[in-house]
This record gives sequence, structure tokens and C-alpha cells, in this order.
Amino acid sequence: MAGSALDTIPADEARARLVNQLLADGSITSPSVEMAFRRVPRHLFAPDGVSIDAAYADDVVITKRGTDGRATSSISAPWLQATMLQAARLRPGARVLEIGSGGYNAALIAEVVGPHGAVTSIDIDPDVVAHARAALDTAGYPHVQVVTADAETGWPASAPYDAIIVTVEASDIPPAWTDQLAPDGILVVPLRMRGNTRGLTLTREGDHLIAISAIVCGFVPMQGASANPVTRRALRGDDVTLRIDDPDTQALNLDALTAALNGPRVDAWSPVTTPPATPFDSLHLWLASQPHPYGQLAVDRHRAADMDPQNWVACPALLTQDSIAYLATRKLDDTTWQFGAHGYGPQAAPLAQHILDLIAVWDRRYRNEPGPHIAVYPSRATLPPTKQPRLLVPRCHTITAITWTTSGGPA
Ligand SMILES: C[S@@+](CC[C@H](N)C(=O)[O-])C[C@H]1O[C@@H](n2cnc3c(N)ncnc32)[C@H](O)[C@@H]1O
Repeated sequence: MAGSALDTIPADEARARLVNQLLADGSITSPSVEMAFRRVPRHLFAPDGVSIDAAYADDVVITKRGTDGRATSSISAPWLQATMLQAARLRPGARVLEIGSGGYNAALIAEVVGPHGAVTSIDIDPDVVAHARAALDTAGYPHVQVVTADAETGWPASAPYDAIIVTVEASDIPPAWTDQLAPDGILVVPLRMRGNTRGLTLTREGDHLIAISAIVCGFVPMQGASANPVTRRALRGDDVTLRIDDPDTQALNLDALTAALNGPRVDAWSPVTTPPATPFDSLHLWLASQPHPYGQLAVDRHRAADMDPQNWVACPALLTQDSIAYLATRKLDDTTWQFGAHGYGPQAAPLAQHILDLIAVWDRRYRNEPGPHIAVYPSRATLPPTKQPRLLVPRCHTITAITWTTSGGPA
């Protein structure tokens, strides 16, 4: 339980302040979700030593780390929990499966579905389940069921579910989730597609699922039978980590790519610009959607400041055997940032130019669209043909199709 002598304000006051902030920034739009956030004492679910301020910040609270120091469990950020609960369109009396526990989000769901609803929360980690159970009992939610189970099998005993809310990063949709979902049920899942995770709200359409909304988000990775971590490779010593989410990474020549990054940089600048603080996540997904070897770079800001990528944590990059180019931006003035690319290696210039060409197409056709159409098919399904640009993400159980369309029809 969070809270200490150092807390600056009482928990009730901190909770009211958080809810007001979530209402003001548009994260909470539903009265029942607002009521849930006002009622559930988030600090009771945070580990000892977490201050009231931290428990009620609009931020993640890490609850467990693995031996490598990476988080394996957390209480997700309130804005994201509110968004996912609203996406699930929970009604009083609904039956809900939460995948990935902690207790707090399950208590929020229990408030929204009310006394005639049913909430089951599963987690692969018995420590997380024990903590969630104790906190739910203390907070007054003994009726929420928490069980130790692997996401891969879901929890058939309490199915069918009107909503399944997955709160751990998935790279695939196991058949158990669709089997246990009611015919008109909603599946909310952070799905990783070629390194890019989007919180998808999926509904059934014939033999497949379609996304009716998609938000940028990040979650701790899936463990257990469906674990499928991205491949991480160090470049230039440990200055740069290359993340690859494609099955075939054998062709990567890490020595050649490191040699490229140690050599001169080619800069290329696009006429396409953006105002500051304006999201352009669809550009990231567009670059990932190309039939080209692709990865994401995490660059150490201190040791490799010279690289200056657009994003220091996950910068889209196109690769060849011996060359690499990644997305860049530079400030032109207080209202304008310019897109560009930095290239390294023998193919630096054509690779950087290729990124500029892709930026131009995105700007012309897709920038002002709501985003690509995303559909998840069973892996043996026959996909409808299309003339539009389409990325297929084949996994064990499913193929996700990301299709780029324009509202004006074929471009
Ligand atoms: C972000 S936390 C869940 C947050 C929680 N829903 C809350 O109240 O905010 C993700 C959880 O997923 C769990 N997890 C990871 N892989 C899993 C799997 N295969 N099956 C079930 N749970 C899994 C982790 O142990 C971790 O506790």
C-alpha cells in the first residue's frame, strides 16, 4: 500500500485532482468511468514506498522488475486505463476478462459493470495474483476473481465475455480469446505490429476481427506460451540498440551496420514539415508498412548525441546489409519542424532518399486520414486482394493486415 509521512496531500484529495485532470484533458469521457476513478483508491494497489503523489500521478507505477531490470508488471497509466475501459464499452451487468492483473484496473471494471456484472482477472505471475487479491480485498472488491493462468488459454470457466481487456503487450491473438468472446463482444488489446504497438479495439466481422480504434501505447511484454519478444541487437558498442520484429533476422550484418554508424552521416531534408507537439504516429506505422528490411533504433542520448534521431527510444529505420537510414527532424523556427533522414554506410544517400519519398507519399495521401485499416485474420484465412499498400504481419495464430486507404478512394 502506498503512502508515507512525506506525502503532501491526502489520498482523497490526490484522487479528486487526478480525476479532474483526466476529465479536463479528455481522457475520461464516460460518466461511469469517471465514477469508477472517483471511487477506487489507487494507492491501495501500489507497492509500499510509493508516495500518494506518485500513486495518483497520470503515470505508470512499476510493481515488479525482472532480473535484467526491465519492468514485468505495473499499474498502467490512468489515461490509458480510462481510454481502454471506454473502448470496451462496458455496461452494467457485463462479463469481463482482464488479462494481466494488478487489481486496480479490475476494481475499476467492477465499478463500471456493477453488482450484476462479473470480473475475472488472470496473470501468469503468482506474486502479482497474490498482491492483487490482497489489495482487492482491502479495497472492498472481494467479488473480483483473480486467478493464475497464462493468457494463451484465457479463462474458459467464466466465458463467454462481453469484453476482454488485455493489459500486456501481445504480438498475436490466441484462439482462446476469440473463442471466449461473446458473439458481439469487444477485444481491447495492445498489439505489436512490426515493432509498433497500438491499443486496438477489435470487433468481429465474419471470420476475422477489425479495429474500430487504435491508440499509441506501451505495455510490459507478454510472458509464457505466447511470449515473442522483439530481437534486440547492440550496434556501435552499446550506444545503439536495433530492435527487429521480423522473424528472419539472420540476414543482419551487425558488424557492417556498426561500421556504417561509425562512418560519416548523410543528411537529407524533406519539404514536408510539422508544427511542434503534433503527433505523427501514422508516419511511423507507414514507414513500418514498407516491403523493406526495417527496424527501430533506441539511441543513447549521451553516448550517441551525434546521431540525433527523431525519436531516441524507437526511431524507424530502413536497413540494407551494410547501410542504415532513420527518420530525423530539425527545428526551422518556433512553429515549424522539418522531416528528414540520416543515412550511414555505402547506401546512405539512396536509403535516406527512400525515406524522404515515403514521407512525401504519407504527407500527400495518408497524413490527414484517420489511420490505416487494421484487420486480424486467422492464420489460415484467405485474405481479400487489395491494390492499396498493405503490410501483413504473420504470427503463429493470426495474420494482421494493415491496409492504407484514402477517403477519396484509390490514390
Ligand atoms: C501492465 S501489468 C497489468 C496491469 C493491471 N491490469 C493494472 O491493474 O493496471 C501486465 C501484467 O501482465 C502479466 N502477464 C505477462 N504475460 C502474461 C501471460 N502470458 N498471461 C497472463 N498474464 C501475463 C504480467 O505478469 C503483469 O502483471
